[in-house]
Amino acid sequence: MTANEYKIMIDKALEGYFTNDKMPQAGLADAMRYSLLAGGKRIRPMLVLEFCRISGGDIEKALPVACGIEMLHTYSLIHDDLPCMDNDDLRRGRPTNHVVYGECTAMLAGDALQAEAFNTILGCDLPADRRAACAGALAEAVGIEGMCGGQYLDMLGEGKELTEQELTEINSRKTGALLVAACQMGVAAAGGSRIQMDAAGQFGAAIGMAFQIRDDMLDVLSTEEELGKPIGSDAAEKKNTYMALMGKEGCENTVEKLTEFAKNILSEAFTDTQFLCELADSMAKRFN
Ligand code: IPE
Ligand code: IPE
Ligand code: MG
Ligand code: MG
Ligand code: MG
Repeated sequence: MTANEYKIMIDKALEGYFTNDKMPQAGLADAMRYSLLAGGKRIRPMLVLEFCRISGGDIEKALPVACGIEMLHTYSLIHDDLPCMDNDDLRRGRPTNHVVYGECTAMLAGDALQAEAFNTILGCDLPADRRAACAGALAEAVGIEGMCGGQYLDMLGEGKELTEQELTEINSRKTGALLVAACQMGVAAAGGSRIQMDAAGQFGAAIGMAFQIRDDMLDVLSTEEELGKPIGSDAAEKKNTYMALMGKEGCENTVEKLTEFAKNILSEAFTDTQFLCELADSMAKRFN
């Protein structure tokens, strides 16, 4: 499959969630669908499906796992944009959730998307041990050791001067952990081997770090129209970023090195790596 075919498959599946408009809390479902269906790049679910495929699994059966991680990711974006966090008013080319629905509903939409992520994964048609492995990997990636821990450290670091090592730790938690989980959940959904799991983890960690560095670059170098989110947000919030630490060229070199490392790792455990190599390259050069 091409990246675009994966995206169409994922978008279509996501359309099918939270559609009951007869319940009294249908307004909350509207808020959840507003952000979920706003057209993200769908990188995490794509990684789930492709790692599942190259580990010998059935991508149709893994589709709810892919949708689950996108729900979780969307929750993290809704909360990340809140006034008490990054205070941003544009996301995926639209006004942010709290701008449209208010802070209280936005918070609940995020909360519900997080719970529904696990509900979706645990309710899918894979063998119970694989469902549990996927849900467990996701939980670990987004809890105190992972995304939430990283978001907390990101907030603590505002206005302070951090070392490269401290910034790397923040980014590996706030962004890297979920990308590691995406890759490993794909292997888990297929019942892949330990060697495949390890390679997927190393690939995810490397592209995850490159991804946040590129994100920091785009916050300075891109335009609001192209990015679909505000530029200059990091400086406004006094964030520590790779752009501030090592400049554009330093960032470009590091992204390139990490991407090459990631691509090389794959060949140790998988044969059919073309899609993932192309995806890693396109992520390194992305403009949104
Ligand atoms: C944005 O993630 C948040 C970060 C972890 C940097 P994406 O760039 O994947 O956002 P969408 O899903 O395409 O909107
Ligand atoms: C946050 O990183 C990543 C999340 C855990 C959501 P950023 O705050 O840089 O993400 P953007 O730039 O708002 O998408
Ligand atoms: Mg943030
Ligand atoms: Mg942000
Ligand atoms: Mg950013």
